[in-house]
Amino acid sequence: MRKPIIAGNWKLNKTPHEAIVLANDLKREIVDVAGVDIVLCPPFTALADVADTLTDTGIALGAQNIFWEDAGAFTGEISGPMLKDLGVSYVIIGHSERRQFFNETNETVNKRLRAALKNGLAPIVCVGENLAQRESNKTFDIIKDHSEGSLSGLSSEEMKKVVLAYEPVWAIGTGKTATPDQAQEVHVFIRQLLGKMFNTEIANSVRIQYGGSVTPDNVVSLMAQADIDGALVGGASLKAPSFAAIVKGAKK
Ligand code: 13P
Repeated sequence: MRKPIIAGNWKLNKTPHEAIVLANDLKREIVDVAGVDIVLCPPFTALADVADTLTDTGIALGAQNIFWEDAGAFTGEISGPMLKDLGVSYVIIGHSERRQFFNETNETVNKRLRAALKNGLAPIVCVGENLAQRESNKTFDIIKDHSEGSLSGLSSEEMKKVVLAYEPVWAIGTGKTATPDQAQEVHVFIRQLLGKMFNTEIANSVRIQYGGSVTPDNVVSLMAQADIDGALVGGASLKAPSFAAIVKGAKK
Protein backbone atom coordinates (compact mmCIF):
# COMPACT_ATOMS: atom_id res chain seq x y z
CA MET A 1 0.00 0.00 0.00
CA ARG A 2 1.27 3.42 -0.94
CA LYS A 3 0.47 6.10 1.63
CA PRO A 4 -1.29 9.09 0.04
CA ILE A 5 0.73 12.31 -0.04
CA ILE A 6 -0.81 15.76 -0.44
CA ALA A 7 1.52 18.69 -0.95
CA GLY A 8 0.63 22.37 -1.15
CA ASN A 9 2.84 24.33 -3.53
CA TRP A 10 2.40 27.93 -2.49
CA LYS A 11 4.56 29.13 -5.43
CA LEU A 12 5.35 32.88 -5.27
CA ASN A 13 2.70 33.65 -2.68
CA LYS A 14 2.61 34.66 0.99
CA THR A 15 4.95 36.96 2.86
CA PRO A 16 6.37 35.42 6.05
CA HIS A 17 3.60 37.04 8.10
CA GLU A 18 0.87 35.83 5.75
CA ALA A 19 2.45 32.39 5.73
CA ILE A 20 2.26 32.13 9.53
CA VAL A 21 -1.44 33.02 9.39
CA LEU A 22 -2.12 30.35 6.73
CA ALA A 23 -0.06 27.70 8.54
CA ASN A 24 -1.94 28.41 11.79
CA ASP A 25 -5.29 28.25 9.97
CA LEU A 26 -4.26 24.91 8.48
CA LYS A 27 -3.26 23.60 11.89
CA ARG A 28 -6.79 24.33 13.08
CA GLU A 29 -8.52 22.97 9.97
CA ILE A 30 -6.54 19.76 9.53
CA VAL A 31 -7.58 17.91 12.63
CA ASP A 32 -6.63 14.39 11.56
CA VAL A 33 -3.23 13.83 9.98
CA ALA A 34 -3.39 10.02 10.15
CA GLY A 35 -3.21 7.97 6.97
CA VAL A 36 -1.87 10.72 4.72
CA ASP A 37 1.44 12.56 4.37
CA ILE A 38 0.87 16.31 4.30
CA VAL A 39 3.50 18.73 3.05
CA LEU A 40 3.46 22.54 2.91
CA CYS A 41 5.85 24.19 0.44
CA PRO A 42 6.00 27.93 1.15
CA PRO A 43 8.54 30.23 -0.52
CA PHE A 44 12.09 30.13 0.90
CA THR A 45 11.54 33.34 2.86
CA ALA A 46 8.72 31.78 4.90
CA LEU A 47 10.28 28.36 5.57
CA ALA A 48 11.68 29.21 9.00
CA ASP A 49 8.42 30.72 10.27
CA VAL A 50 6.28 27.91 8.86
CA ALA A 51 8.70 25.37 10.38
CA ASP A 52 8.12 26.96 13.80
CA THR A 53 4.36 27.02 13.29
CA LEU A 54 4.26 23.35 12.28
CA THR A 55 6.27 22.05 15.25
CA ASP A 56 4.68 18.85 16.61
CA THR A 57 1.79 18.88 14.11
CA GLY A 58 2.80 15.91 11.92
CA ILE A 59 2.62 18.24 8.90
CA ALA A 60 5.89 18.28 6.95
CA LEU A 61 7.72 21.17 5.35
CA GLY A 62 8.89 21.29 1.74
CA ALA A 63 10.91 23.76 -0.35
CA GLN A 64 10.18 24.69 -3.96
CA ASN A 65 13.71 24.30 -5.30
CA ILE A 66 17.30 23.43 -4.30
CA PHE A 67 20.68 24.26 -5.81
CA TRP A 68 23.06 21.38 -6.57
CA GLU A 69 26.11 22.69 -4.72
CA ASP A 70 26.15 22.71 -0.91
CA ALA A 71 27.99 26.04 -0.56
CA GLY A 72 30.22 28.46 -2.42
CA ALA A 73 30.15 31.44 -4.74
CA PHE A 74 26.63 30.99 -6.16
CA THR A 75 24.86 34.27 -5.48
CA GLY A 76 21.14 33.93 -4.97
CA GLU A 77 21.02 30.16 -4.58
CA ILE A 78 19.77 28.00 -1.68
CA SER A 79 21.41 24.69 -0.80
CA GLY A 80 20.46 21.35 0.71
CA PRO A 81 22.23 21.88 4.06
CA MET A 82 20.47 25.27 4.42
CA LEU A 83 17.06 23.64 3.86
CA LYS A 84 17.83 20.69 6.09
CA ASP A 85 18.89 23.01 8.91
CA LEU A 86 15.47 24.70 8.77
CA GLY A 87 13.64 21.41 9.22
CA VAL A 88 12.69 20.97 5.57
CA SER A 89 12.09 17.35 4.57
CA TYR A 90 10.76 17.53 0.97
CA VAL A 91 11.75 19.56 -2.06
CA ILE A 92 9.84 20.13 -5.32
CA ILE A 93 12.17 19.73 -8.29
CA GLY A 94 11.61 20.43 -11.99
CA HIS A 95 8.20 22.07 -11.72
CA SER A 96 6.94 23.06 -15.18
CA GLU A 97 7.07 26.73 -14.20
CA ARG A 98 10.79 26.32 -13.60
CA ARG A 99 11.22 24.45 -16.88
CA GLN A 100 9.18 27.13 -18.69
CA PHE A 101 10.44 30.37 -17.11
CA PHE A 102 13.85 29.55 -15.65
CA ASN A 103 15.48 27.30 -18.24
CA GLU A 104 15.27 24.19 -16.08
CA THR A 105 16.25 21.10 -18.09
CA ASN A 106 16.30 17.38 -17.37
CA GLU A 107 20.01 17.76 -16.70
CA THR A 108 19.60 20.48 -14.06
CA VAL A 109 16.65 18.60 -12.56
CA ASN A 110 18.88 15.55 -12.23
CA LYS A 111 21.61 17.59 -10.51
CA ARG A 112 19.13 19.07 -8.04
CA LEU A 113 17.63 15.65 -7.42
CA ARG A 114 21.04 14.21 -6.52
CA ALA A 115 21.70 17.16 -4.20
CA ALA A 116 18.37 16.58 -2.44
CA LEU A 117 19.08 12.88 -1.93
CA LYS A 118 22.61 13.56 -0.73
CA ASN A 119 21.21 15.92 1.89
CA GLY A 120 18.47 13.58 3.07
CA LEU A 121 15.61 15.53 1.50
CA ALA A 122 12.77 13.68 -0.25
CA PRO A 123 12.45 14.98 -3.82
CA ILE A 124 9.06 15.59 -5.47
CA VAL A 125 10.01 15.43 -9.15
CA CYS A 126 7.55 16.93 -11.63
CA VAL A 127 6.90 15.73 -15.17
CA GLY A 128 4.20 16.74 -17.64
CA GLU A 129 3.29 17.72 -21.17
CA ASN A 130 1.96 21.06 -22.39
CA LEU A 131 -1.19 21.55 -24.47
CA ALA A 132 0.54 21.54 -27.87
CA GLN A 133 2.34 18.32 -26.94
CA ARG A 134 -0.90 16.65 -25.82
CA GLU A 135 -2.75 17.77 -28.93
CA SER A 136 -0.02 16.37 -31.17
CA ASN A 137 -0.10 13.02 -29.35
CA LYS A 138 3.33 13.51 -27.78
CA THR A 139 2.22 13.10 -24.16
CA PHE A 140 3.90 9.75 -23.60
CA ASP A 141 7.09 10.84 -25.42
CA ILE A 142 7.36 13.87 -23.14
CA ILE A 143 6.65 11.87 -19.99
CA LYS A 144 9.30 9.34 -21.02
CA ASP A 145 11.80 12.10 -21.79
CA HIS A 146 11.17 13.95 -18.50
CA SER A 147 11.22 10.76 -16.43
CA GLU A 148 14.29 9.16 -18.01
CA GLY A 149 16.19 12.44 -18.14
CA SER A 150 15.34 13.58 -14.63
CA LEU A 151 15.87 10.21 -12.93
CA SER A 152 18.96 9.27 -14.92
CA GLY A 153 21.63 7.31 -13.04
CA LEU A 154 19.65 6.87 -9.81
CA SER A 155 20.01 3.59 -7.94
CA SER A 156 16.90 1.66 -6.89
CA GLU A 157 17.68 2.56 -3.26
CA GLU A 158 17.68 6.26 -4.21
CA MET A 159 14.54 5.95 -6.31
CA LYS A 160 12.63 4.55 -3.33
CA LYS A 161 12.91 7.98 -1.69
CA VAL A 162 11.54 9.92 -4.68
CA VAL A 163 7.95 11.08 -5.12
CA LEU A 164 6.85 11.81 -8.69
CA ALA A 165 4.25 14.37 -9.67
CA TYR A 166 2.43 14.19 -12.98
CA GLU A 167 1.42 17.75 -13.77
CA PRO A 168 -0.01 18.35 -17.24
CA VAL A 169 0.94 21.97 -17.94
CA TRP A 170 -2.45 22.67 -19.56
CA ALA A 171 -4.19 21.81 -16.29
CA ILE A 172 -2.10 24.06 -14.05
CA GLY A 173 -3.92 27.14 -12.83
CA THR A 174 -6.49 26.82 -15.62
CA GLY A 175 -9.35 25.14 -13.80
CA LYS A 176 -9.13 22.46 -16.52
CA THR A 177 -8.33 19.33 -14.52
CA ALA A 178 -7.26 16.20 -16.33
CA THR A 179 -10.10 13.69 -16.07
CA PRO A 180 -9.42 10.84 -13.65
CA ASP A 181 -9.04 8.53 -16.69
CA GLN A 182 -6.59 10.86 -18.43
CA ALA A 183 -4.47 11.12 -15.29
CA GLN A 184 -4.67 7.41 -14.51
CA GLU A 185 -3.52 6.55 -18.05
CA VAL A 186 -0.35 8.60 -17.62
CA HIS A 187 0.29 7.30 -14.10
CA VAL A 188 0.13 3.72 -15.40
CA PHE A 189 2.54 4.66 -18.18
CA ILE A 190 4.97 6.14 -15.61
CA ARG A 191 4.76 2.99 -13.48
CA GLN A 192 5.52 0.80 -16.49
CA LEU A 193 8.47 3.03 -17.28
CA LEU A 194 9.75 2.72 -13.70
CA GLY A 195 9.48 -1.04 -14.06
CA LYS A 196 11.77 -0.91 -17.08
CA MET A 197 14.18 1.67 -15.63
CA PHE A 198 14.40 0.08 -12.16
CA ASN A 199 12.32 -2.96 -11.21
CA THR A 200 8.80 -4.07 -10.38
CA GLU A 201 9.17 -3.29 -6.70
CA ILE A 202 10.04 0.33 -7.50
CA ALA A 203 7.22 0.56 -10.05
CA ASN A 204 4.75 -0.59 -7.41
CA SER A 205 6.09 1.38 -4.45
CA VAL A 206 6.94 4.85 -5.80
CA ARG A 207 4.20 7.35 -5.10
CA ILE A 208 2.90 9.39 -8.03
CA GLN A 209 0.93 12.55 -7.32
CA TYR A 210 -1.36 14.27 -9.78
CA GLY A 211 -1.20 18.07 -10.03
CA GLY A 212 -3.23 20.59 -12.01
CA SER A 213 -6.39 22.36 -10.77
CA VAL A 214 -6.98 19.90 -7.92
CA THR A 215 -9.90 21.04 -5.75
CA PRO A 216 -12.03 19.59 -2.94
CA ASP A 217 -14.58 18.73 -5.65
CA ASN A 218 -12.35 16.59 -7.85
CA VAL A 219 -9.84 15.11 -5.40
CA VAL A 220 -11.98 12.10 -4.46
CA SER A 221 -12.50 10.95 -8.05
CA LEU A 222 -8.80 11.44 -8.82
CA MET A 223 -7.74 9.54 -5.71
CA ALA A 224 -10.16 6.73 -6.59
CA GLN A 225 -7.84 5.82 -9.46
CA ALA A 226 -5.59 2.90 -8.62
CA ASP A 227 -2.33 4.61 -9.56
CA ILE A 228 -2.93 8.12 -8.22
CA ASP A 229 -1.32 8.39 -4.80
CA GLY A 230 -1.85 12.02 -3.95
CA ALA A 231 -1.94 15.56 -5.21
CA LEU A 232 0.38 18.49 -5.71
CA VAL A 233 -1.92 21.44 -5.14
CA GLY A 234 -1.34 25.03 -6.21
CA GLY A 235 -4.19 27.54 -5.98
CA ALA A 236 -6.38 25.50 -3.62
CA SER A 237 -3.50 25.17 -1.14
CA LEU A 238 -3.55 28.93 -0.45
CA LYS A 239 -6.80 28.77 1.52
CA ALA A 240 -7.00 26.65 4.65
CA PRO A 241 -10.55 25.32 4.14
CA SER A 242 -9.92 24.09 0.59
CA PHE A 243 -6.54 22.52 1.36
CA ALA A 244 -7.95 20.84 4.47
CA ALA A 245 -10.86 19.49 2.41
CA ILE A 246 -8.41 18.10 -0.16
CA VAL A 247 -6.42 16.38 2.59
CA LYS A 248 -9.62 14.84 3.93
CA GLY A 249 -10.73 13.75 0.46
CA ALA A 250 -7.38 12.14 -0.24
CA LYS A 251 -7.68 9.42 2.35
CA LYS A 252 -8.23 6.20 0.45
P1 13P B 1 -2.94 24.59 -9.53
O1 13P B 1 -3.47 23.63 -8.48
O2 13P B 1 -3.10 26.02 -9.16
O3 13P B 1 -3.47 24.25 -10.88
O4 13P B 1 -1.35 24.36 -9.59
C1 13P B 1 -0.86 23.07 -9.72
C2 13P B 1 0.60 23.10 -9.53
O5 13P B 1 1.35 23.59 -10.35
C3 13P B 1 1.14 22.53 -8.27
O6 13P B 1 2.51 22.41 -8.33
